[in-house]
Amino acid sequence: MASEPRFDGKELRRVLGSFVTGVTIVTTIDAAGRAWGLTANSFSSVSLDPPLVLWSQSVRAPSHPAFAGATRFAINILAEDQVELSNRFATSGIDKFSGVETDAGAGNVPLLRGCSAWLECTLVSKLPGGDHVIFVGEIQTIRRSERRPLVFGSGQYLVADPHDLGKPPPGLGTTVQSQLHAARIGARAMARLSEEFDETMALSVWGNHGPTITAWQPSSTPVSSSLPMGLALRVTSTATGLAMAAHLPPEATQWIVDAELKLNASGAGAGPIDESEFKDLLDEVRAQGISIRAPGHFWGSDRLVNAMSVPVLDSSGQTVIALTVIGDVERFPGADSALAQALKRTAADLSKRLGFEPESESSYRRSVHYQ
Ligand SMILES: Cc1cc2nc3c(=O)[nH]c(=O)nc-3n(C[C@H](O)[C@H](O)[C@H](O)COP(=O)(O)O)c2cc1C
Repeated sequence: MASEPRFDGKELRRVLGSFVTGVTIVTTIDAAGRAWGLTANSFSSVSLDPPLVLWSQSVRAPSHPAFAGATRFAINILAEDQVELSNRFATSGIDKFSGVETDAGAGNVPLLRGCSAWLECTLVSKLPGGDHVIFVGEIQTIRRSERRPLVFGSGQYLVADPHDLGKPPPGLGTTVQSQLHAARIGARAMARLSEEFDETMALSVWGNHGPTITAWQPSSTPVSSSLPMGLALRVTSTATGLAMAAHLPPEATQWIVDAELKLNASGAGAGPIDESEFKDLLDEVRAQGISIRAPGHFWGSDRLVNAMSVPVLDSSGQTVIALTVIGDVERFPGADSALAQALKRTAADLSKRLGFEPESESSYRRSVHYQ
């Protein structure tokens, strides 16, 4: 009789899923010469001398009898562009090998083309493992390609990139390096936030026409079907513009701000009409750590949107990028929302990684004499 469960099954899967793995397709051939294969991430190295590996298979898998009766198997370590193949070999009851390019390995065990690496093994032992059987194999041949491996974790496919979320690369004193690094780690943080809250987001830098969107992350229902990159935004009247200007030296922004204030005063722009109103807005952004602007039309459309933006600061305390959420006006969360809090936390975290220390901000602000 099955014992009383000690934890929730879904939670157990989630916990186990936080251990990130590669993805393999294990292949074999039966006595009748029929090829078998299944997607497996239970693969693990065991011993170097002798060279042993293991993987485990559900006893309920239709292909289990074939693997249990075989004396050889091959581990095909999937490359990052083989998600479709992985899904195909994780599907029961289909002709998995139809149209798939293979080479015949030792004992005619099929080896899938396009993988990151291959191990051909002879079976050493089969160990009982609850509802799984653990297959231990001795490695007979190994081969590797230059293709980057596919990664799996928390129930989704991932790609393997070097860990650059720690300290910025050495020599990051220059603006260019710091911008590149910020854009890279900012884009990843934006992708995560956009997925978590299902909101459309933009990453902006300060370009030669002021705040400029360089990347988008659309939600499942993006605010527009066209999300143009390279879009230059107003400084004085957009959440992004204000978030960026709040931590840039006035001399960097002045020429655009002056022109926009004139436009606004003439009624052609929708922002503050004089320097002091503009400075009040910047003070507000600095105090709150976030810039939220009232509804406006999304670029080139009739759609009314709201925006909230956070500046990411570099080691000198200046804005290097801004992350902005652009959402439909009826359902857009406010300054106290979980989304606003998450944006602020993300900006603080990214700024810290870029070498920004909160104390340096105050000295920076003192040095630029904001009245
Ligand atoms: C990423 C991923 C990893 C998997 N890992 C394993 C595994 O290690 N062992 C296993 O028995 N099934 C695993 N599966 C499920 C099998 O691939 C799936 O049940 C497959 O249909 C079994 O093949 P069969 O139906 O031809 O027997 C995994 C599926 C995916 C998508």
